[in-house]
Amino acid sequence: AKKIAIMGAMVEEVDPFLGTNEHEPLLKYFKKHNDVTYGNNLYHEAKYKDLDIVLGYSKIGKVNSALTAATMIEHFGCDMVLFTGVAGAISPDLKIGDLIVATQLCQHDLDITAFGHPHGYVPEGKVYVEPSRNLIRIAKSVADEKGIDLKKGVIATGDQFIADSERKEWIAKTFDADALEMEGASVAVVCDALNVPFFVLRAISDAADTDATFDFDEFLKHSSQVSSSFIMAMLEKL
Ligand code: ADE
Repeated sequence: AKKIAIMGAMVEEVDPFLGTNEHEPLLKYFKKHNDVTYGNNLYHEAKYKDLDIVLGYSKIGKVNSALTAATMIEHFGCDMVLFTGVAGAISPDLKIGDLIVATQLCQHDLDITAFGHPHGYVPEGKVYVEPSRNLIRIAKSVADEKGIDLKKGVIATGDQFIADSERKEWIAKTFDADALEMEGASVAVVCDALNVPFFVLRAISDAADTDATFDFDEFLKHSSQVSSSFIMAMLEKL
């Protein structure tokens, strides 16, 4: 059977309505699951239809998410990684609750420009890492069927919560980025290095501006739910 990693950064992203019956947490779909702790994270092994699933959240940031992606691949044997969560909008087309799938991911805070390299680049690496085209195509078909306006674009990742229009504009113009978050590109680097198809989906929680912390807290659960329910629909097509 295919073994699929589904990961987010925060517990709210993989289990948005934890402890409530308001909506449908991802874990609800995987009623019978086996909990495994590894490397200071909790993973849930489950079955869904004929798929083996490993579900978990990494904790915030590039290092934590790289560890979780690598663990899901190397320790649990996953052959595909699906990332679900929320992001700050850069593109004015993206409103709170809108879904964006990454076509390319980059690290906006990776900087050895002092040595003449471009932003986001280190030797033997690449500025942009690209997710599986096949998974993007599957996402598009799910969106078409459900009448969802799924946006595509560049997602910029860094170990910074951006709540400042100046920094946001810098990221926009330096990387031609449409949305920003704190885990996608690090998961991308790991999956690319290990030749495992991956996919990063984000629902907008804020616009990375002076209202960002307020909006993030307000919309985290709802936007997480938008993203995770889309991932559940994608599982039907894997
Ligand atoms: N994830 C969601 N909103 C974000 C923001 N403004 N900055 C970084 N990561 C985010």
